[in-house]
Amino acid sequence: MDIIRTTRELQERADWVRAQGRKIALVPTMGALHPGHLSLIQCGREKADEIWVSIFVNPTQFNQPEDFEGYPRTFEVDAESCRAAGVDVIFAPTPDQLYPNGAQTWVEVGDLADPLCGASRPGHFRGVTTVVSKLFLAARPHVAVFGEKDFQQLAVIRRMTRDMGFGIEIVGGPTLREEDGLAMSSRNVRLGPRARKQAQVIIRAIRQAERNIAGGERSTASLLEAVHKTIEEASLASVDYAELRDPDSLTEAPGKLVGPTLLALAVNFAPDPDGQGAAVRLIDNRVLLQSRQTDGES
Ligand code: PAF
Repeated sequence: MDIIRTTRELQERADWVRAQGRKIALVPTMGALHPGHLSLIQCGREKADEIWVSIFVNPTQFNQPEDFEGYPRTFEVDAESCRAAGVDVIFAPTPDQLYPNGAQTWVEVGDLADPLCGASRPGHFRGVTTVVSKLFLAARPHVAVFGEKDFQQLAVIRRMTRDMGFGIEIVGGPTLREEDGLAMSSRNVRLGPRARKQAQVIIRAIRQAERNIAGGERSTASLLEAVHKTIEEASLASVDYAELRDPDSLTEAPGKLVGPTLLALAVNFAPDPDGQGAAVRLIDNRVLLQSRQTDGES
């Protein structure tokens, strides 16, 4: 496994691999790798001959400096996990490789990036789509894999890839969950022990919504009221957003649900009352009213 630090070297490697007729799959990450990332690596492996992972904590997608500074950075452990997973190349650039001095060019998606995380984290998706474009140009992959936990990010990246004509196949990897149902995320380790326990309210709220749907409930207002009620049972949790939207356009769902509908949640957790842990925002989602399960439960 090679660790490459410059875009130029990565591009040369990509040209060399492509010249041999071999396919590259890229898994872009911000490190702090967990089994969810390893499953994305596995998805990539099934689609290509070489599997490349980028590890870069992208400053432009954080709208709060303390979130950027506190984001877990575990490069040595990540490199070991990649080696064990048979990764061929890690791309771990320094910020100046992706943002040369004075950089002032952005890649920005329109309406799809406006609601949900776009509304509660202004500028977030502009940072994501800009860095992902740069990673695509550096790695020149045939395939790129992103987690379905970040549902809107996946939709925005698919749109950007299509609109910009990158010619890269975007693959979504299913959300992996902890035993109690919490979606795996690099941010989970920042929760205090009490907040970590309470974080299972997110999946509880999602499953409650599924049960309500199965029981015939179709009212958007009633479904969302139940979601709020479940999450508010946890003393350290507060709902950032809980919304029902069209899974393709991300426009608001009608008052009465008629077809597949995205339930998208973002929940803020406070540090534990004894000061352990940090303030952490977690997201999760489920497409309701479709037969396909997305959390590996069935
Ligand atoms: O999902 C992530 O970890 C990041 O948003 C990504 C896609 C690596 C861009 O920095």
